[in-house]
Amino acid sequence: MNVLLPQHATIIEVGPRDGLQNELNQIKTNDKIRFIKALKTAGMKEMEITSFVSPKWVPQMKDASEIVSTCLDDTRNFVLAPNRKGVERIKETNVKAIALFAGVSNSFNQKNSNKETKDLLNELIPLVKELKAEGYFVRACISTAFYCPYEGKIKVNDAVDVCRQFVDAGVDELSVADTIGMATPAESHNLFSQLVKELPSTLLTAHFHDTRGMALANIYACLQAGISRFDTSAGGLGGCPFAKGATGNVATESVVYMLERMGIKTGIDLEKLMRAIDEIEPHLSRSILTPYRTLYNKEKEASIK
Ligand code: HMG
Ligand code: MG
Repeated sequence: MNVLLPQHATIIEVGPRDGLQNELNQIKTNDKIRFIKALKTAGMKEMEITSFVSPKWVPQMKDASEIVSTCLDDTRNFVLAPNRKGVERIKETNVKAIALFAGVSNSFNQKNSNKETKDLLNELIPLVKELKAEGYFVRACISTAFYCPYEGKIKVNDAVDVCRQFVDAGVDELSVADTIGMATPAESHNLFSQLVKELPSTLLTAHFHDTRGMALANIYACLQAGISRFDTSAGGLGGCPFAKGATGNVATESVVYMLERMGIKTGIDLEKLMRAIDEIEPHLSRSILTPYRTLYNKEKEASIK
């Protein structure tokens, strides 16, 4: 291999938030808490644990306050907020890392946040400045950075422009998303190379949904562009209820397996990650069938016989 790859990569586990926001079953708060704790035992140091969104819009996240009051510790626990109301609710807790979210495309923002892009940015950008002045770690999640389910292909310059507005306001991190899993490795390399070049002082994270099975290839392309932070979801859970066709995030186990086999350390213990999936799988509306998980189950079954 003739490209310089990082020795370490950071996994940001998004299963408890992106994964469970799209789940058909109403999962009990205690089962979510056991999942989050088991993920931490597997080595997760950064995690999106829940979101303070409208419970009318996303009932799956209505227990955000209980999750937060039980799961905070000295690792980085992100909580998402869609607006000032969400931020005010978070400020009543001990959360120190807040994630705000906005899409590049107008139609997605209308569906997801009930606002035009310009109105959404007019609300979020001052919030970033305020939160930074108060000492929070702020992450901006940028949806539809490659494709929008309603508007199609997004121009690279438009994605970079939205990212730059958040960077100028002072965010610590950008999580840049392929919301509906349509990006190719060439497109991933292209956008992330541009972000590395133009916004070098911000932590850059890639967030891939695996709708068309291209997420691992996209992550490899991102590694080549100098990216070493990846949002992933245990068991490949996930999807945005307001993005037509969005399915699960790239599975944490697939990414950890690939990176570790390439000599890139993640600090995640795969065996313990499987135990975290054991905690949540019985409560889900579907089985987890990622290749790593399927193989693991077969080997476990064979060892019992
Ligand atoms: P709206 O209906 O326009 O809100 O929704 P509103 O300001 O008119 O308020 C309506 C009601 O909601 C009021 O209550 C508010 O108090 C309440 P009522 O008076 O009717 O009883 N409300 C809230 N309650 C709790 N927490 C709040 C909140 N805000 C208002 N924060 C709104 C606008 C933004 C609230 C709504 O559209 C919403 O909650 N959207 C969230 C959608 C969402 O969670 N999407 C998934 C996360 S983003 C994602 O998954 C993408 C990502 O993974 C990256 C990628 O893959 O692309 C990050
Ligand atoms: Mg997502």
